[in-house]
Amino acid sequence: MHHFGSYEDRVKSFDWKISEKELEYQPGNVINIGWYCTDRICEMGKANKTALLWEGQGVPDRKYTYNDIRLASNTIGAYLRSLGIGAGDRVCLFMDKIPELYLGFLGVVKIGAIAQPLFSAFGDESLFIRLDDARTKAIITQRKHALKVRKILAQMPYLEHVIIVDHDGKKELKEREKPFSLDNATPVEHLEIHPTTAESPSVLHYTSGTTGKPKGVQHVHYSLISQYLTAKWVLDLRDDDIYWCTADPGWVTGTSYGIIAPFALGVTQCVQDVGFSAENWYRFIEKNKVTVWYSAPTAIRSLMKAGDEIVKKFTLTSLRHLASVGEPLNAEAVHWSNRVFGLPFHDTYWQTETGSIMITNFPGMKVKAGSMGRAFPGIESCVLDLKTYEPITEPGRIGLIAFKPGWPAMMRTYWNNPETYKNKFKNGWYLPGDRSSIDKEGYFWFAGRDDDIINTAGHLVSPFEVESALLEHQAVAESAVVAKPDEVNMEVVKAFVTLKRGFDAGPDLELDIMNFIRKRLSPLAMPQEIEYVASLPKTRSGKIMRRLLRAKEWGEEIGDTSTLEND
Ligand code: WT7
Repeated sequence: MHHFGSYEDRVKSFDWKISEKELEYQPGNVINIGWYCTDRICEMGKANKTALLWEGQGVPDRKYTYNDIRLASNTIGAYLRSLGIGAGDRVCLFMDKIPELYLGFLGVVKIGAIAQPLFSAFGDESLFIRLDDARTKAIITQRKHALKVRKILAQMPYLEHVIIVDHDGKKELKEREKPFSLDNATPVEHLEIHPTTAESPSVLHYTSGTTGKPKGVQHVHYSLISQYLTAKWVLDLRDDDIYWCTADPGWVTGTSYGIIAPFALGVTQCVQDVGFSAENWYRFIEKNKVTVWYSAPTAIRSLMKAGDEIVKKFTLTSLRHLASVGEPLNAEAVHWSNRVFGLPFHDTYWQTETGSIMITNFPGMKVKAGSMGRAFPGIESCVLDLKTYEPITEPGRIGLIAFKPGWPAMMRTYWNNPETYKNKFKNGWYLPGDRSSIDKEGYFWFAGRDDDIINTAGHLVSPFEVESALLEHQAVAESAVVAKPDEVNMEVVKAFVTLKRGFDAGPDLELDIMNFIRKRLSPLAMPQEIEYVASLPKTRSGKIMRRLLRAKEWGEEIGDTSTLEND
């Protein structure tokens, strides 16, 4: 029997108090995610249970019990405190998926500081924009990534500490750099947990905006109430599970469901920090006897591409529940997983701002392949008319996804940007910025984003950020960046550019521009194609019409062009 049971029963009797009660949380009391994920589990008698099974590239595997992660997070927390870091300070975690990323996250939130995880493939420009916005006080990183920090350090007087977790003692440390090794530090048995309460800030995740800089999505410790219950009911996590969330904690899935929820539930989770290949993934599932697997459509499509034969080389019978997030999960992917694993992938829909799963195909219920499923109990949802913002009542008509605010994991604001936060609401509804229809049984069918943001391999890329970076290239006069269809990644970045006089449009320059973006921003943001054009389509007011360029890439109708200037 699944934890979830029947949808109708759950909806009828739903109250977030169910989660509060299970977590023994009394409103008004202290609630600290770091404590819930470690100390509490130990107090419940699971100190010797395995919390984390870790596999890296060319190094021995690592295994941590709940007591180990309690001690390690205490030790990191105490160290940060000794540097003068405390409640409300932003501490960036800028690491590959190494154990210190997970343990550091817990240490940061234990002392009431705000964890700011950033994807370690970010280049110096992407990093700078986000650290500068958050006025980050300390960054915890690895030697190889510290080089990117060095490049921008002079511009960040507020960044007091650059903590390097794998310093070998040989290379010279530069300004503000401090070595810290968990292996050499004396474990701290007792750490005073900062008495954070429900509304104390916990995590700051940066997400891409359409027209402005990336936005810092600010979460609070009370988010645990949503994350815990959704992981239990949607991912169906149980005491004896071996859980694998493939997401990187640089993104929200990797924190909400790759750190917070599984540890707060006291399950064993495994983490793989090696490059992607179908062989690596199946071997990892077999080796750890993974039971619950939370992944993403791009990865699933890559596995499909690798073929059915390779699946047969491994024993994957431990798997019992599969879920997916980040992009539309095609019906074919669900049929494929049914065929090769004997289990369907269950789609889940949510976003950085919602903090926890909002819409899903629930375990134990019939999966409607191609649909995202139904709203989580307690979440009031609908789709709104694209023009009037009135709720649509007839099934099948596409509108804007809308949620009534009030669930525990909802972001509290955008960091330093209350205006943009306010604009996410219409008539009392929170609008995530996506379009969908709802069928007569209440299942949501995703229909695309309502803005120009590019979703590549489940990661959002802002065309604005790429365009701004392109302008810094010496050859680029103007640019427009849009999504282009891609078989595996769903969308990839494509840039249209006009060149300054004296530059040769050609493959050498294209490569040079691509590399420029990859280094400054990230491999995700790097255009996969650059098309040189003589001019860009603009509105009469001079705004570049990305919509036109995008429609061309997708072979779609161009629609209303009445405001076009140069046609
Ligand atoms: C955007 C959120 C929290 C998940 C990681 C990404 C798209 C997410 C689905 C889905 C279709 C989806 C939406 C959403 N998205 N899940 N199941 N089907 N689209 O978090 O970076 O904040 O991106 O990803 O467009 O708004 P994110």
